[in-house]
This record gives sequence, C-alpha cells and structure tokens, in this order.
Amino acid sequence: MISAAESITHQHLLSVLNTEVEGVSITKPVRLLDVGCGDGLLIKYLTANFGVCNQGLKFEIYGLDVADHGVQADGYFEKTIENLEAEFPDTPWKDRLHVISTKDVWPFSDCFFDIILSNQVVEHVSDQDLFFSEIGRTLVTGGFSVHLFHLKNSFYESHLKLPLVHRFSNHDFMEKYIKTLSKIGWGKYKHHNSTSPTSVTEFAERHADYIFFFTNYLSYSEVLTLCKKHYLPASFRYTQEYYFSKIRSIIKGSPKYKLTKNRSGIVDWFAIFVLKYVSSVTLVLHKGERYTQQPTDEQKQEEL
Ligand SMILES: C[S@@+](CC[C@H](N)C(=O)[O-])C[C@H]1O[C@@H](n2cnc3c(N)ncnc32)[C@H](O)[C@@H]1O
Repeated sequence: MISAAESITHQHLLSVLNTEVEGVSITKPVRLLDVGCGDGLLIKYLTANFGVCNQGLKFEIYGLDVADHGVQADGYFEKTIENLEAEFPDTPWKDRLHVISTKDVWPFSDCFFDIILSNQVVEHVSDQDLFFSEIGRTLVTGGFSVHLFHLKNSFYESHLKLPLVHRFSNHDFMEKYIKTLSKIGWGKYKHHNSTSPTSVTEFAERHADYIFFFTNYLSYSEVLTLCKKHYLPASFRYTQEYYFSKIRSIIKGSPKYKLTKNRSGIVDWFAIFVLKYVSSVTLVLHKGERYTQQPTDEQKQEEL
C-alpha cells in the first residue's frame, strides 16, 4: 500500500517519476538522487513508495545537500542521516547521503544517476550554471530529472506570501516594502508573530536578508537558456498536474500516482504560460544522445 505523503509536492513528484520511469530501459538498480534533500522526508517517502508503485524495479536512493547555504541549522545533515537510519536500518545511508559546499562539483562520477529530482531547491541555488551542468554530467544518457520550484515570474513570493518581493534587487527597498505590507497585515508576519513574537522591524530585516541572500529566482526564459546551454531539453509538461493534486487533496479525492504520458502540447504550453505567474512549476529534463557538432568536411562530402 502507498503511504500518505506529508506534502503534496512529494506525492506529485512520485507521480511524475512513476510516469517518466515507464519505458526507460534499466538493467541495473535505478539510481535516484534527491538534490537539496534537506531533512530527508522526500527520500523517506520515495524509499517507502517508489517500489510499491513500480513492482519489480530495484532502486537505490541517494541524497545531496550543501552545508554553507545558510538557511539550515548546524548539524542538520547528521539529523537527516539519523532519521533515515532509524526508518530504514538496512540501507547504508552514510554512503548514500553527501553534504558539500555550494561551490563544489557533486561527489558522483559521470553518468551515475538514472533519475535526479529536487523539491523547492532551484530557487535557492546560488550557482545555477554549476547546478545544471552537474545534472547534465551525472545523469546517464537516457536518464531524466524532475524539479519542482518557483520561478521569478510568479506573482507571490512563496516564503513570505507577499507579492513581487522576490523581484527587487535593492535590499533597502525590499526591507521597507516587507515592513509596510506586514504592518497592514499582509503575508506571514501575523502568523509568525503569533508563534514566535517578533517586532515588525526585526521581521522585515531578517526576511529581507533571507530573500536577498538565500534565494535566487530564475525566470522562465532563464531556465530555458540554462537548460539549452547544458544540452538538456526542458519541458514543463506536468506543471498543471501539481495544481490538480492540490485540488484533489482539498476535496479529499484519492491521489493520482500515474499521469498521462501522451499529452497535448498546446494544453501543456498554455498551462505553463499561465501557471508560471501563480506558484510552483515542474521542470522535466531528459538527457539523450544529442546532435551537438557540425559535420566534418568528410561527412559533408559523403552526404553530397
Ligand atoms: C527549501 S529547502 C527544500 C528542502 C527539501 N528539498 C524539501 O523539500 O524539504 C532548500 C534546500 O536546498 C538546499 N540547497 C541550497 N543550495 C543548494 C545547492 N547549490 N545544491 C544543493 N542543495 C542546495 C538547501 O540546503 C535546502 O536544504
């Protein structure tokens, strides 16, 4: 039986994996990386459910995170390992989970993974060029990756639930803006203040720092440019399915664990055209044999 997800994002990512893994030719255990795995809750959910959804498929899940991003408390990664060891004692989590610095290349050999995924990570990555380059390097040819994250295009900033705050490049202005909107009751300040009392000035200072230093939102076209640079054709084809999952959860419907693979390009294009302004998008990248070089003179001659 598939266990209930703690977050709709986890359930959505599982349904995309189940859909995309179909038809991928795999002769060895599927190696799957959760990059930016944080507290390991997604790894826990997938370890419990990926095999249940894909009977007979052997798989190994790995995790990677960074120690110097600044948003995680010291020692958080040891806690992640401890939690997973308590949950699945037979898996060698110390070998599977790695923590690096934001400037490091990933500690895996080329073409190591069949699948890479991330949940709410891309908007926190400081060096996105390195991030996409490492996806391209460590993904096996024929493998794929799935990333759920917010774009710069979205109207609301997801951490503060304030409009447009992530689009400002001036810290001073951002801080004053957060303070003004928080004072009139917008965003998360009210809730934050009821659980951990803070003055609106301190709240605005701390959260302006958070948005300014620890988020790095990409626009829709910047994502496409980066993916193109690293020879990873990008698709946002499952974006609307995340919203359908949310609706199903609100109306207490059953979750869907497999999505339609045969899709309408126009509907998917229209969905991302609109939903990029709303909330999270789902990016799917496939690493295939790419035509990347100009033909040699000899090849040109042969073609004539
Ligand atoms: C909002 S948290 C999401 C954590 C987890 N994926 C989840 O869904 O709960 C963002 C995570 O991205 C990680 N992160 C930030 N920059 C990163 C990078 N360059 N490479 C890998 N992970 C990164 C952070 O350390 C943090 O764990």
